Amino acid sequence: MLRKEQNELLTQTGPGTAMGHLFRCYWLPALLAEELPENDCPPVRVKLLSERLVAFRDSEGRYGLIDEFCAHRGVSLWFGRNEEAGLRCPYHGWKYDVNGQCMEVPSEPVESGFCRKVKLTSYPLVKIGDVLWTYMGPADKKPPLPEWEFALVPPEQSFTSKRLQECNWLQAMEGGIDSSHVSFLHRGDLGSDPLFKGAKGNQYNLADMQPHFEVVEQPGGLFIGARRNAENGKYYWRITPWVMPCFTMIPPRGDHPIHGHFWVPVDDETCWAWSYDFHPVRALTKIEVDAMKDGAGVHCKVDAAFRPLANKDNDYLIDRTAQKAGRTFSGVAGFAMQDASLQESMGPICDRTKENLVSTDNGIIMARHRLLRAAKALVDKGVTPPGVDPEQHRIRSCSVVLPPEVAFKDGAKEALNAKRGVAQTTV
Ligand code: FES
Ligand SMILES: [Fe+2]
Repeated sequence: MLRKEQNELLTQTGPGTAMGHLFRCYWLPALLAEELPENDCPPVRVKLLSERLVAFRDSEGRYGLIDEFCAHRGVSLWFGRNEEAGLRCPYHGWKYDVNGQCMEVPSEPVESGFCRKVKLTSYPLVKIGDVLWTYMGPADKKPPLPEWEFALVPPEQSFTSKRLQECNWLQAMEGGIDSSHVSFLHRGDLGSDPLFKGAKGNQYNLADMQPHFEVVEQPGGLFIGARRNAENGKYYWRITPWVMPCFTMIPPRGDHPIHGHFWVPVDDETCWAWSYDFHPVRALTKIEVDAMKDGAGVHCKVDAAFRPLANKDNDYLIDRTAQKAGRTFSGVAGFAMQDASLQESMGPICDRTKENLVSTDNGIIMARHRLLRAAKALVDKGVTPPGVDPEQHRIRSCSVVLPPEVAFKDGAKEALNAKRGVAQTTV
């Protein structure tokens, strides 16, 4: 449970808020690269951390993320003409480059130099993997580029999608570090989803509904270990890394690709659920990629605005017959919308003053405290928060069977490091 003011602090990320400052310390996923597929393609509206922006790719292939609204009289530059290395407002023709610098005010004499004095807010936009990343903090504090493994492996080994989730980022992210719900909410899908089925680990997951959680601090955030019984007194461990503020990686199953998420605030009542799948040492198969595009695993089918086709307006297409028969535990199809339907059902910003937390919520409790501490240290003393240093991105989830006397942080120590060209540790 949190106090009201703690809940507000953690869930508000607009300009000037404490968590807003924290989020503005990191490179965050802003767009799929395919949203800006070619030079001079149409601009795209982007809302992040409650700021309204527009992204475009100019004639020279440079990416820009600038204030959505023209400095003249506030027209949305989404209507802009993307031409000759700049985005031109269609109202009176003011034109901006990828840095937000005004290049032309056609109604004014060139000699006046007026346009040089006009500049829109702008943020860097950089392509790494399938994703365009942005950093929305002060320019002099810009950290080195991120080094998440899923974005650095060869393109044929990785797949990324995004979907809009209609609730605050924190309750979405809390689902990503809550391994205990898998034995319930997702139990119907473990044996059938093409990106999950067949792993030995699934049997342990389904057989032991009372996982024991051990959470340990790591430099960028937490390792959340969920322990279930295996054979001969051994333990099956699923270890989920959480890196501040909003990166999670689901422990692998068999040789399936590893999946995980970023939970990025659009505003305080909606977020982007970014979902990636990658394999450290092999190309994804056509069957796997087709399944991902078809909404299997952690992905889901979305409309042109990336809103899931199953959404609150159609009750997530809940199927009560499937629920009763146990084909799905909640009646909603697919991992992504099973999670999103329940998290959205809590309301846009869930009231954490009313919770009753139990021991399986330890990861969530520790993550909240880590976030609160880091936001306070940043605002009060300017301390750079965990997770900014790219060194802290080079981690992996793992699943492993260990003897009872071995702590997971020792037994899985090597497995939790991302090593280029080395396969994941998985059961
Ligand atoms: S409002 Fe954009 S040029 Fe006038
Ligand atoms: Fe889930």
